[in-house]
Amino acid sequence: MRAVVIERYGTAEALGLKEVPTPRPKTGEVLVRVHAASVNDWDWAMIQGRPFTARLLHGLLRPRVKIPGCDIAGRVEAVGTGVETLQPGDEVYGDLCLAGFGAFAEYACAPAAALGRKPPGMTFEQAAAIPQAGMLAVQGLVDVGGIRAGQRVLLNGAGGGVGTIALQLAKLHEVEVTAVDKEGKLEMLRTMGADHVVDYMDEDFTQSGRRYDLILDVKTDRSLLRYARALNPGGTYATVGGDTARLLRVAALGSVMFRWSQKRLRVVGLKPNKDLAYVNELFESGRLVPVIDRRYKLEEACEAFRFFSTGDYRGKIVVTMG
Ligand SMILES: NC(=O)c1ccc[n+]([C@@H]2O[C@H](COP(=O)([O-])OP(=O)(O)OC[C@H]3O[C@@H](n4cnc5c(N)ncnc54)[C@H](OP(=O)(O)O)[C@@H]3O)[C@@H](O)[C@H]2O)c1
Repeated sequence: MRAVVIERYGTAEALGLKEVPTPRPKTGEVLVRVHAASVNDWDWAMIQGRPFTARLLHGLLRPRVKIPGCDIAGRVEAVGTGVETLQPGDEVYGDLCLAGFGAFAEYACAPAAALGRKPPGMTFEQAAAIPQAGMLAVQGLVDVGGIRAGQRVLLNGAGGGVGTIALQLAKLHEVEVTAVDKEGKLEMLRTMGADHVVDYMDEDFTQSGRRYDLILDVKTDRSLLRYARALNPGGTYATVGGDTARLLRVAALGSVMFRWSQKRLRVVGLKPNKDLAYVNELFESGRLVPVIDRRYKLEEACEAFRFFSTGDYRGKIVVTMG
C-alpha cells in the first residue's frame, strides 16, 4: 500500500510517499481501507519532533511510529479475531492518537474499540475532520467547562479545528460567544454565529477588562493570573493546548490557586472517541457540520502539512486517499 512515511524528524519536505506492506489486524483490531484523514497539531509535532515532549512520546532521535495521522475515516476491510462489533463493509471513523497513528495511508489497523460508526449522511471527508477536534471541543466545553445557558463564553483560537466545532456547540447552549482569532477568519466566525469577534493581533482579551464565565483556549501563551483576571467569579478557563510550560503550570496550580474566587483553570485531557455518538446525533440533526478548508490527495500530504504550518486555514485540512 502507499503511505506517508517519516524516517526522521524534520519539515513537511521530510515526508515521503512510500510503498509499505499492508498491515494485518491483530486480535481485537480491524483493517480499515482509509478514505480520508485530517491534519492535526499532534501529527505536525510528530513530524517535526517538536516540542520536545513529542520526542518523549515518539522516540528521542527518530520517530518509532513511521506513519503519522490520528484522524481516520474509511471502510472496514477485514476484522481480526475477537472482533464482534464491526464487520467488513462498515463505515467507521475515529482518532488513532492512542492507537499507533497511521491514518495517512491507504490502509490502517485500529482497535475496533477506537472506532465509531460513521452516519450514512456524513462524507468520509467530514468524518475525518471530526474525531480529535470534536472530542476536544465537547470535552472542553461540556465535561470540563460545564457550559450552561446564559453564560458569556470566549473561544480563543476559534477559527481552527477545535474552535469551529466549539463555536457550533456553544451556540446550541444559548450562550453569548466571543470568538478570538486572526482578522481573516473573523467574518467566517461571525457568519457561524459568534456574537462578538476579537482579532488577537489587535487586542489582548485578557487585558480588555471584559469578563467571561467560560474560556476555551487552544493557544495558552499567557500567565495564569491573566486568564484568571478575564474570568467572572465562579468561572472556568479550560485549555486544550498551547505552550507546554504554561500548560504544566495550569495543570499543577490551576485548580487551587484561585480557589478563593471560585475560579478554576484546567487542562482538558483528551479522551479519544468518547463522544463520537453524541457528535453523530448533532450531525444527523443538522446542528453540527465540520468546517473543511482545503482537501489534498495522499500524494500531496507534504503540501497539506506545509499549508498547516502557515496557520492560515479555517477549520480543518483533509487528505483523501482516492
Ligand atoms: N489536551 C489534549 O489532550 C490534546 C490532545 C490533542 C491535541 N491537543 C492540542 O489541542 C490543540 C488543537 O487545536 P486546533 O486543532 O483547534 O488547532 P488549529 O486548528 O491549529 O487552530 C488554532 C487556531 O488558533 C489561531 N491562533 C494562533 N495563535 C493564536 C493566538 N495567539 N491567539 C488566538 N488564536 C491564535 C490559529 O490561527 P493563526 O495561526 O492563523 O493565527 C488557528 O485558527 C493543539 O494545541 C493540540 O496540540 C491537545
